[in-house]
Amino acid sequence: MIISDSVRYVGVNDYDLDLFESQYMLEKGMAYNSYLILDEKVALMDSVDKRGETEWLANVEKELGGRKIDYIVISHMEPDHSGSLRSILAKYPEAVVVGNAKTFTFMGQFFDGNIACEKLEVKEGDELSLGTHTLKFFMAPMVHWPEVMVSFESSEKLLFSADAFGKFGTTDADEDWACEARRYYFNIVGKYGVQVQGLLKKIAPLGVQKILPLHGPVLTENLAYHIDLYDKWSAYKPESKGVFVLYASIHGNTAKAAEELAQMIRDAGEERVVVADLCREDLAECVEDAFRHDRMILCCATYDGGAFVPMEDFLHHLQIKGYRNRTVGLLENGSWAPQAVRCMRTYLEAMKDINILEETVSIKSSMKESDKPAMQALAQAIFKAGL
Ligand code: FEO
Repeated sequence: MIISDSVRYVGVNDYDLDLFESQYMLEKGMAYNSYLILDEKVALMDSVDKRGETEWLANVEKELGGRKIDYIVISHMEPDHSGSLRSILAKYPEAVVVGNAKTFTFMGQFFDGNIACEKLEVKEGDELSLGTHTLKFFMAPMVHWPEVMVSFESSEKLLFSADAFGKFGTTDADEDWACEARRYYFNIVGKYGVQVQGLLKKIAPLGVQKILPLHGPVLTENLAYHIDLYDKWSAYKPESKGVFVLYASIHGNTAKAAEELAQMIRDAGEERVVVADLCREDLAECVEDAFRHDRMILCCATYDGGAFVPMEDFLHHLQIKGYRNRTVGLLENGSWAPQAVRCMRTYLEAMKDINILEETVSIKSSMKESDKPAMQALAQAIFKAGL
């Protein structure tokens, strides 16, 4: 695939992978991106997952047209990008591997001792001339691993952005970029908002014209839109005004209460109310929706003296991903000793800047008319919190 006269896409689409990182469901596969810069010197930007190795080696060979590789730039040592490094070096042993000090530490760890190759260690601001193209390196620690760095090619203003601006799905998946980029961001990079903010500040003055991430499509248009979303997400600012109502129901009674509460919130005047069944929806999608909205209602059955396990699992995920700066309302169900609110509150209180509404609701076994005044009070409170 041609990116420009001198830059080629040589990555691969993995249509068969079911779970990325063995945990994130994939409906439209995954792309492992890699690029070639063909100048007086040839630079290969990253390797691919071992799963795509054979196809990738063929892509590289075809685009090289008989030339050799001078440099292999490693943005990120996670195996979805470095898994085929040994094979490319076996085929092109004269290539110099470009990375930072941590890159080479991780190389040694992943490849039992080390791979025999010449290394060029770079640090923040170093440049590498390829001829008319020049790569400048910017360290991006924890976006998403400590060794991550991005490369800016100054003649064409290309940003090789590593995991940043990536998404789930193959490069040819016909789907909205933001939907799967958002799920990818909050579940994979979300914990590191401060570091993403740092990277955005570094790239702001560069006048980037194209973003070439390690996953998903090359971004060539409307970059302000993509960068603005990344800015919002990494600053933990809500993207959408609205209420995400999430329920974990064992026999359906908590679900009924959640649906009724959602309708009450709509009736209060809320334009955007999104309801999800935590037990049946993709957990990563629920995490994404929690971050996306400014407010959330959690409705949960009591189980073994705490919250129903899927809800505890969800809250654990929110906590480790750095969920913060949101308003949350709580509804519990329990037949003899409702405990879900207490349990959910414990998780939420451990997070930063969470406004837990005082208007909690506790129902016994199933919602009754007598529960509705408390539910109306919660609906009004969550609506008013958004004004
Ligand atoms: Fe796409 Fe952090 O690896």
